[in-house]
Amino acid sequence: MCGIIGINATEPYTSQELLSRLKKLEYRGYDSWGYWNGTQLVKKVGKIEVSDDQQAVNVAISHTRWATHGGVNEKNAHPHRAGKVTIVHNGIIDNWKELRTGLEAKGRGFRSETDSEAIAHYIDTALNEGKDILAIIKLLIEEIHGTFASLIMIDGDDTLYAMKRDSPLALGVCKDRMILGSDIYAFSDTTNEAIFFENDEYATIRPTGYTFYKNGEELVKEAKAFKWTTMEEDKQEYAHFMLKEIHEEPSVNQRLIDSLQTEQDVHFKELVDLIKNAKKTVFTAAGTAYHASLLGASFLHKCGVNAQAIIASEFENFITIDDETLVIAVSQSGETMDVIEALKYSKDKGATIASIVNVPYSTIERMSSLSLQILAGQEVAVASTKAFANQATVMLALAQEFGYANGLAGMPKKLAGVLAFEPELQKLAQELHEHRDLYVLGRGLGYPVAREIALKIKEISYVHAEGMMGGELKHGTIALIENGTPVISLVYNDDPKMRSSTQEVKARGARTIVIGTTPQAELNVPAESEAEFAILASTLGQLLAYYIALARNLPIDKPRNLAKSVTVL
Ligand code: AGP
Ligand code: GLU
Repeated sequence: MCGIIGINATEPYTSQELLSRLKKLEYRGYDSWGYWNGTQLVKKVGKIEVSDDQQAVNVAISHTRWATHGGVNEKNAHPHRAGKVTIVHNGIIDNWKELRTGLEAKGRGFRSETDSEAIAHYIDTALNEGKDILAIIKLLIEEIHGTFASLIMIDGDDTLYAMKRDSPLALGVCKDRMILGSDIYAFSDTTNEAIFFENDEYATIRPTGYTFYKNGEELVKEAKAFKWTTMEEDKQEYAHFMLKEIHEEPSVNQRLIDSLQTEQDVHFKELVDLIKNAKKTVFTAAGTAYHASLLGASFLHKCGVNAQAIIASEFENFITIDDETLVIAVSQSGETMDVIEALKYSKDKGATIASIVNVPYSTIERMSSLSLQILAGQEVAVASTKAFANQATVMLALAQEFGYANGLAGMPKKLAGVLAFEPELQKLAQELHEHRDLYVLGRGLGYPVAREIALKIKEISYVHAEGMMGGELKHGTIALIENGTPVISLVYNDDPKMRSSTQEVKARGARTIVIGTTPQAELNVPAESEAEFAILASTLGQLLAYYIALARNLPIDKPRNLAKSVTVL
């Protein structure tokens, strides 16, 4: 996944500017980081340390890595240098082995195990053969199979070179500098003018100018003004971004509901019309956004709309798409590569593409003919919380248009009410945090919620948690229930089927915890509809996961092996 930053400025700047910008992209990967400023090559494992090094330069590139090829160590950290060429790369080069073998045959010695290093050797070899840099990049783009956003520096040349396919890359245009970054967070504090690279484009970047190319042809690309706020970027009094972001749910939810009736009103109605006119509506997403999609598909299904939710990474295997299909991508980052692939496939089949995203100007938004924003603000913690609440709320709003009455207007207040459960959840977490396994059961709208709660627990507390359909339990998983195994049951309105699933595990010694809507429930959620229950129970689950991870003393905002934005397949 990784984040990349490159700055070419009229006045010299220090590594502090470079690295504080890189830090904004750390959510994209935090295995290792590094930079090259023309003389110093720094590569380190772990979180970015902004140093007070006073060496000032006009051009530099940097990288924060989420390893795909080669272990997490300094050797594999970017930038990679070969001869006079230094590069950073986000993406995966599928044919790296062939490229590497060919270059090794020409006598090149590789230092890392990464796919990326081949880019540096390829360019340096071709430069040594006397070729022109732009011709080399053009050829390289033709020869690389796979994805890349890559920045290139050449010793003795103060131009910065950039190229991209599928991995995101934007150019922030400032008066006295050009800032290349994986997304607009990289420079949104300094400029609101950006140019987004499209596939197979490459560019030369000078301190006050740029030239874009594709296939050897010069392109005319104008910077566009973008709107962005940086208000929610700091942790305030909270110990972790995750807790802060859960606490923001009521306010960002209100902001979303208001905007669907005001500035997003036209787009919202257009999306409703697209759903009405489509033969079928297919949501596609990954992880938490998929769980929100399952809720959306189920809400619409209840109104007689032909709607489904398909995991993006398995999209082609489980659905037939045609030109009468509406595909709605749901994504916080708007950059998830599995989702982008599903959209490309759908486009090829003639489907109409819409999306529900959080990060504006993201790739998924730009691929869609219509996009709604969930307005959750920047979500820093890897675990998605406020974005889920708002994704599910957009689903509620859509379903309401099809006659599903569900208490949408009261949602912000209800979410605020759920935060009052915090002390109880903290107590429960003390009891649960030493367990190795945990199960979460739900039926109907409770099923996606069960999966969502289990995902949150797994990803930040490293406790094995399985979220499943209550009805499936007896078909196998019940064999795993032992004396004291924690099982959380989501029971809306005392649903008799969920009650029996709970009894079945209790009879086998499970420690059952009922999240429900009646006084008998251990956690009694004040929900007046099943949909409300689903959203509120998810927030309870987020808090429970948070406190389990806290009790286990884990790095909550940046769990091991993960990244916020998953831009590789
Ligand atoms: C959520 O807590 C996870 N970190 C993850 O499942 C995430 O929801 C998934 O990777 C999808 O990301 P997106 O919403 O940015 O597309
Ligand atoms: N494939 C490259 C690597 O493993 C880049 C990964 C990334 O995009 O973070 O180093």
